[in-house]
Amino acid sequence: MLLENRTAIITGAAKGIGEATARRFAAEGARLILADMDSRAQTVAEQIVEQGGEAVFCPCNVGREADVEAVLDMAVRLGDLDIVVNNAGWQLNKPLLDTSVEEFNQVLNTNLTSMFMFTKGAAKIMIAKGHGGAIVNVCSSFAVVGSPGYAAYHASKGGVASFTRAAAISLMPHGIRVNAVGPGTTDTPGLRDGARDTGNEEEGMRSFMALQPLGRFGKPEEIASVITFLASDQASFAAGALWMVDGGYTVI
Ligand SMILES: NC(=O)c1ccc[n+]([C@@H]2O[C@H](COP(=O)([O-])OP(=O)(O)OC[C@H]3O[C@@H](n4cnc5c(N)ncnc54)[C@H](O)[C@@H]3O)[C@@H](O)[C@H]2O)c1
Repeated sequence: MLLENRTAIITGAAKGIGEATARRFAAEGARLILADMDSRAQTVAEQIVEQGGEAVFCPCNVGREADVEAVLDMAVRLGDLDIVVNNAGWQLNKPLLDTSVEEFNQVLNTNLTSMFMFTKGAAKIMIAKGHGGAIVNVCSSFAVVGSPGYAAYHASKGGVASFTRAAAISLMPHGIRVNAVGPGTTDTPGLRDGARDTGNEEEGMRSFMALQPLGRFGKPEEIASVITFLASDQASFAAGALWMVDGGYTVI
């Protein structure tokens, strides 16, 4: 098992990529703290425990400093912290000209400031414990390409890629590896929300599919697999990278 005796925080674990990552981490032997503002993460934690794993739910809005501190405190109470997967994110489907300053700031807060708060707090715990760790930030193919409907989201994910590089360099001396995964279009509840935002879910999904070089969407498990690799010792020389897992979306 790749993550035996590791304690990990996974944000946005109630569904989609975060849920798949939680289930895969549990299968690899990790102890889990599932942080989400959706209490469905409690059900995910209970199912993992029923299957012999270790998982607890911690309610959290990742954009609120006090909530982030509560999750980090839970890790300290449980005894340790080795891994953080900063996965929670919000894709606002709005053209630049219609996006308010409040909306722009809210997207940045949820998608980027949250990662800064978790990375800083987790690194302090890891350093105090006298060991290294691994932080994996869930970024996006939208960090490196543009599109008309998601200005705030693009900005936030570009920030995640850049923050990942800065954090990797800052935390390397402490043995903490920071990397990012860049999912392409992945079939999650969040993707279907995005398709619904276009006015017609079925047509929205068809229009997303037309852009896929592989002719299919990614599965949450396929993203979880690369997150697991980066969080594990198998990626011991990987630091500051943005690993695209996008079925070729960004190379055409
Ligand atoms: N699905 C895709 O096509 C795709 C593509 C590129 C990047 N991503 C990124 O992958 C990550 C996961 O996306 P997904 O598709 O699984 O999304 P999803 O909407 O299916 O799940 C997101 C989870 O994050 C939680 N969440 C959202 N805002 C939160 C907040 N403020 N505090 C706490 N929890 C919060 C939600 O409750 C939910 O459980 C996101 O960062 C997203 O930007 C997804």
